[in-house]
Amino acid sequence: MSKVALAREAVNFVKSGMVVGLGSGSTAREFIRALAEVGPRDVVLVPTSADSEILAAELGLGGLLRPLWAVDRVDLAVDGADEVTREKVLLKGRGGALLREKLVDYAARQFVVLIEEHKLVDRIPTRNPVPIEVVPWAWRHVAREVERRFGGVVKLRQDGGKLGPVVTDSGNYILDWTPPSALDPSAEDALKLMPGVVETGIFAKRRDAVVLVAREDGKVYTL
Ligand code: A5P
Repeated sequence: MSKVALAREAVNFVKSGMVVGLGSGSTAREFIRALAEVGPRDVVLVPTSADSEILAAELGLGGLLRPLWAVDRVDLAVDGADEVTREKVLLKGRGGALLREKLVDYAARQFVVLIEEHKLVDRIPTRNPVPIEVVPWAWRHVAREVERRFGGVVKLRQDGGKLGPVVTDSGNYILDWTPPSALDPSAEDALKLMPGVVETGIFAKRRDAVVLVAREDGKVYTL
C-alpha cells in the first residue's frame, strides 16, 4: 500500500514532453503502473531492466519506450532503493538491475527515489550485501581481489529460476559482498577501479536526489 502511495506522489513529477527513466524493482513497478493509469502520454520512457520494459509494454506504454542510446537527455528518473542514508547515499541492486539503473539515475536532471521508511539506515550496508556486477570470465578473480583488498566475504549470486549464477540484463554476473564494516561512500570509486568490475550497487553521487519516504500508514514525506 505504501508503495502505491509513493508511486502516486512520484507521478506528479512527470510532465508532458519529458524523457523519463523507469527504475526497477517492486516500488518502481508501482510507479510504472501509476504512470500508465494517470501519467501524460506525450513522454518518452527509458526502462532500466527487462522487467520494467515488459511491464510498461504490457500496460500499453510500449510505443513510448526507448533505449538510453536513442535519447539525447533524461529529464527525470524514478527508482527504488534497498537502503538509503540521511546523506542520500543509496544501496541498490538487490534485483540485479544496477548497471542500467546507475546509467539512467546518474544521467537524469532530476532523480526521485521512492522508499518505505524501514529502508532508512545510518550507514550502508546495514541489512543487505553490496552487489558488484562483474565480467563473468573474471568473477572468481574479482571476488578474491575484493576480499584481499577490502576484507569481508564475497558470494556469487545464484539464480532462483535456473541452475547457476544470476546473469544480468547486460550478460554479467553479480557478486554479493558483505564487507567487514560499514562503507565510506568512496568505496563506490575504489571498487569501480578494479579490472573486471562493471558497476556496483553503491549510489553515492546523487546527493541532490529527492527521496520520498512512505510511513507504514501510507503517509509520504520528503527526506
Ligand atoms: C533493482 O536491482 C534494485 O536496485 C531496486 O531498485 C531495489 O532493489 C529496490 O527494489 P524494491 O523496490 O523491490 O525494494
